[in-house]
Amino acid sequence: MNEFEAKRSLAGERILLGVSGGIAAYKAAELVRRLRDADAEVRVVLTEAAAHFVGAATFQALSGHPVRSSLWDPAAEAAMGHIELARWATRVVIAPASADVIAKLAHGHANDLLSTLCLVTTAQLTLAPAMNNRMWWHPATQANVATLCERGAQLIGPDDGSQACGEFGPGRLVEPDAIVRALIASRVPSGSGPLAGQRVLVSAGPTYEDLDPVRYLGNRSSGKMGFALAAAAAELGADVTLIAGPVALPTPAGVRRIDVRRAVEMCDAALSALPQDIYIGAAAVADYMPARTATDKIKKPILDQGSDAASRNSGLTLDLVRTPDILAEIAAHPQRPRLVVGFAAETGNLAESAREKLQRKRVDAIAANRVGVEGCGFDCDSNALSVFWAGGEAELGPASKTQVARDLLLLLLDRLPAARA
Ligand code: CTP
Repeated sequence: MNEFEAKRSLAGERILLGVSGGIAAYKAAELVRRLRDADAEVRVVLTEAAAHFVGAATFQALSGHPVRSSLWDPAAEAAMGHIELARWATRVVIAPASADVIAKLAHGHANDLLSTLCLVTTAQLTLAPAMNNRMWWHPATQANVATLCERGAQLIGPDDGSQACGEFGPGRLVEPDAIVRALIASRVPSGSGPLAGQRVLVSAGPTYEDLDPVRYLGNRSSGKMGFALAAAAAELGADVTLIAGPVALPTPAGVRRIDVRRAVEMCDAALSALPQDIYIGAAAVADYMPARTATDKIKKPILDQGSDAASRNSGLTLDLVRTPDILAEIAAHPQRPRLVVGFAAETGNLAESAREKLQRKRVDAIAANRVGVEGCGFDCDSNALSVFWAGGEAELGPASKTQVARDLLLLLLDRLPAARA
């Protein structure tokens, strides 16, 4: 493993995972797995409250090491004292971080094992908060988080969404995979990595073309592939701008995000973001939009002497016009990025269609995926791509979208000189 490969994982990291009390503690068990998959060594410390949610045996089995939860455990102190444990860690990650733990750390308390370790350690502290959204928004919590961030703590999340308490809002623990990605991203110092100094623009997700105030034409793109590409480009050191269609995905660490809805908005945002070094059009942009968006809800026609059957047969014709082809506009722009990459979702002759698109849109590479194949493409976490460029082609995956995204960027860097600064 070379130096850069090592930085794409958590190899060499000794992570002290602090789990505090909250229903999200069950996700910390999955996080231990993901951290170990990324080659980190993990030791777990549970607060007393966390132990009410998930048992120490679970974490012991997953981490492969005894779990600590008390300052007053003579056997554990004899094996590795809490001071040694604090020195051992290269990072302290608290996930979930409850409002209480955040308050304790902000005020320098040392009345249990986890808070004591945090006062002793000089390792990077990362907090992934999880709590009820009102607790999160409380000025006390906000002030405590601000204090910890000013002291250098890394904050991952919280995510927005429905909560175990039945409410809706920010306070959900970020998914374990995303926590690991954020930890990996923070390992690569900005300004290093093979894409260092390069500006990368990525489009992701679907576009919604409004018919009236309640209806739109859309597609099934989840945005996951584009978000994975933005995350991977940031990990490789690029300065990344992500133009996102309407999707419910967290912003990858270190990425600038611009949210849009319609194809014309995506096009404006992309053109306004130029100049860029690399453009990757991963968005599933609608090819057509309604010629007019009705300001009032479109009603069914009420027929004069209409029976239900007549009404059912009356039909509706939509007048559609072409949207701008963002990829082609960027490829033809006077400030054309050095490398322009398109995506193609194909059901038929993949290679022929992709090569035709490569020429017609004057792009440097097309990453094509076959839709309708299980485990590939829309709204799933894995993908397989066939990549075509003037001088060759390559197959990537099937693998997780995170993996395929990294491999695509590394392939472009390796095979297309325009990808290199
Ligand atoms: N694209 C775009 N703007 C559009 C339509 C598509 O930028 N209005 C981009 C997509 O982001 C993607 C690529 O073009 O990178 C391929 O899209 P696709 O719809 O497969 O290509 P089309 O040329 O529209 O061909 P098809 O007739 O197969 O849909």
